[in-house]
This record gives sequence, C-alpha cells and structure tokens, in this order.
Amino acid sequence: MANNLLKGKRGIVFGALNDMSIAWKVAERVVEEGAIITLSNTPLAVRMGTTNELAEKLNAKLIPADATSVADLEQVFVQSMETLGGKIDFVLHSIGMSPNVRKKRTYDDLDYDMLITTLDISAISFHKMIQVAKKMDAISEGGSVLALSYVAAQRTLFGYNDMADAKSMLESIARSFGYIYGREKGVRINTISQSPTMTTAGSGIKGFDSLVDFSDRMSPLGNATADDCADYCVVMFSDLTRKVTMQNLYHDGGFSSMGMSFRAMEQYNKSFDEFKDEEGKVIYG
Ligand SMILES: NC(=O)c1ccc[n+]([C@@H]2O[C@H](COP(=O)([O-])OP(=O)(O)OC[C@H]3O[C@@H](n4cnc5c(N)ncnc54)[C@H](O)[C@@H]3O)[C@@H](O)[C@H]2O)c1
Repeated sequence: MANNLLKGKRGIVFGALNDMSIAWKVAERVVEEGAIITLSNTPLAVRMGTTNELAEKLNAKLIPADATSVADLEQVFVQSMETLGGKIDFVLHSIGMSPNVRKKRTYDDLDYDMLITTLDISAISFHKMIQVAKKMDAISEGGSVLALSYVAAQRTLFGYNDMADAKSMLESIARSFGYIYGREKGVRINTISQSPTMTTAGSGIKGFDSLVDFSDRMSPLGNATADDCADYCVVMFSDLTRKVTMQNLYHDGGFSSMGMSFRAMEQYNKSFDEFKDEEGKVIYG
C-alpha cells in the first residue's frame, strides 16, 4: 500500500544483487512511495547479478562502485545528484561480505588479511560513504542514512564469525557519525538490526537454515522478512522519524528481547534424550 511517504525525495540504494536482496525490496518500496533513486553495486555484481533488471524496472540509474573505494563513492554521489537533480535525502547501505565466512575459516582460525577485508567492506565502507557525502555536502538537511545490521553485534550466535565484529563496528559508526552529522547538518544516521533473512549473503553463514528457524520460533512475532524490512526503511527515510538518530533499531519480531520461550524450553528438554548413556545418565558433551 503506497502512501506517498517519500514523495519528492531523492535516494541512493547500495547493495541490490538479486530479487532476494533486502536492498532490492527496499528499492521497490521507496519508489512505490514516490521517491526517485539511483542504485549502486560493485562492477562485478553489476555484471553477474540482475541489478540491471531492477534499474530498468524502476527507471533508476545504476552506478557501479566498490564501496571500499572513496573515489568510486564520490562518483556515486556526483552522478546521483546530477541524475536526480539535487541533494540526496536518503541513503541505504545494504552491503556485507566476509571472505573468512566464504572460505569457511572459523573464528579461532581467522585469516587477518581477510578480516581486514570483512571490516572494510561490511563496516568501514559505511564510514567512507558518510564522510564522502559530508565533504561534498551531498545530503540535504534532515536527510536519513541507514545501514543494515544483525543482533550478532551484541550477542554471540554460532557461525556468524567475523561478521559479528563488522556489525559492532557498523553500529558504532552510526553513533559516532550520527553525532557529528546531526549537529552540523541535521542528518540522521541509524542501523536496522534485521532478522536472519534468506539472501545470498545470509545463506553463506554456517547453519543458516537452523538459525532462521530458531529465531522464527523464538520471536513472538516471527522473523521479519525482507519486505517487512523495506517497510521499516520507508518509515526511517520519511519525515515521520525526524528525531530518530544514532540508534540501532531492532527489527526482528522481538527476538533480541527474548531469553527462553515455552516452546524452546520443551525442545531443550527433549534434546537430552539423545544424550543419555545406557544407564540413562545425561552426557553433557
Ligand atoms: N540476510 C540476513 O540474514 C541479514 C540479516 C541482518 C542483516 N543483513 C545485512 O543486510 C545487508 C544486505 O545483505 P543481504 O542479506 O540482502 O544479502 P545480498 O547478498 O543480497 O547483499 C549483499 C550486497 O553487498 C554487496 N557488496 C559486497 N561487497 C561489496 C563492495 N565491496 N562494494 C559494494 N557492494 C558490495 C553485494 O554485491 C550484495 O549486493 C548486509 O549488510 C547484511 O549483513 C542481512
């Protein structure tokens, strides 16, 4: 349902790879709400993915850029302002990648060059994006910048690996830059901590199917989908959230506030059956 919440606003959406991507859903929703946008992804993703289809469908310019490159990011902002005809009102950072996760390196056997790449792509790129925009004065007064995070920034979840460190840093950047950009230009910066969602990046995480299922059962409202996330992003980009900044906003059906549910307790009790020896003694393992 469209309410013209973003009528007249100009935005940049980073990270739509295919129709499962959270950024893909966000791009569709913001346009539905009246925004005009540009899209950006890596040159490789532009060649290999289907972002072109989205660009055509939404009549949006697609600007290839590696988000770890300051020069590329400058180009994205220059070309976006040119194409859209003015300063930018909202930006979505929907970018994440860990070579350690891809190469199945465990957290106690990280490759440190890969760790630096993880942090650069998944967190520092957010700083670069905002710093570039601020230096160019590319974001309008009251503009809204969002990045997507995950609860592994606060709590340890099996298999999330060095992405947890990247997400902690990402959320910290939102606070640190939110202070400076808010005071000086009224620009707000937040992260949305999204439920596990079946996407290309998500499915790279070890045991991801079980994680999705576990958090779905544990959350009173169930997991938030990519479409739900797109709705939340629309509100955060709109003027209805003018005073929200420097926040990490959980969008997870309640998962982050849960400890133990009745259902999980039942399941937990059942699990001991499998771990008893012949005498019925529990093996903790
Ligand atoms: N899927 C989940 O379970 C989940 C949960 C919480 C948060 N998130 C976050 O949501 C964001 C989007 O991920 P997604 O799940 O939609 O997966 P996705 O794989 O569709 O999107 C990740 C995007 O990052 C882009 N990217 C990688 N390296 C880049 C670089 N150097 N420069 C620019 N772009 C680059 C990819 O091309 C891709 O478009 C990520 O930050 C992810 O960590 C995902």
